[in-house]
Amino acid sequence: MQIDPTQYIRQIIRNVPDWPKPGVTFRDITTVLQDPRSFRVLIDLFVYRYMGQKLDLVAGVDARGFIVGSVLAYELNLGFVPVRKKGKLPFNTVAEEYSLEYGNASVEMHTDSVRPGQRVLLIDDLIATGGTLLAAARLLQRLGANVVEAAAIIDLPELGGSQAVKDSGLSVYTVCS
Ligand code: PRP
Ligand code: ADE
Repeated sequence: MQIDPTQYIRQIIRNVPDWPKPGVTFRDITTVLQDPRSFRVLIDLFVYRYMGQKLDLVAGVDARGFIVGSVLAYELNLGFVPVRKKGKLPFNTVAEEYSLEYGNASVEMHTDSVRPGQRVLLIDDLIATGGTLLAAARLLQRLGANVVEAAAIIDLPELGGSQAVKDSGLSVYTVCS
């Protein structure tokens, strides 16, 4: 079967109107994950992009970034580090705040999860405003990491997040919008 991987993934992502509130269309990746072919196509897209890039680690963002990030790290023979929502990590942490529609949130990493100079791929499922990935990238940079790229499955370009991440000086890759 001949398929365009990007189109294939895009058509399997489920769009749920008016969730979690009216006016929002939720881009649900569980449909991609539960189908073995699309899950493999997705991971292989990332593997082909990042193999040979001399990465040291994959950092995945809580919670959906853990799913793709950990499988990708395993496939690339790399370690995986979690960027967690506040209050979940047990050891010494660094934190960065970011803005949500109402109020603020924080992400945290263990202080010993990255060594200075390590080449890290940062990954999540989706870029909306970009606040989450920007905060995660700031954390990694505070720990001395070289953030090689910020990657996601889905970009919502109308929200300006991927542009904001690019404007911060990071390279950005998304599979589809
Ligand atoms: C979603 C998504 C990204 C983030 C993108 O996570 O998985 O992490 O929002 O939004 P942004 O670009 O505007 O920051 P959410 O905070 O809903 O958490 P979840 O993964 O635990 O559902
Ligand atoms: N996170 C922020 N906006 C989202 C959306 N539209 N779908 C899924 N996750 C999101």
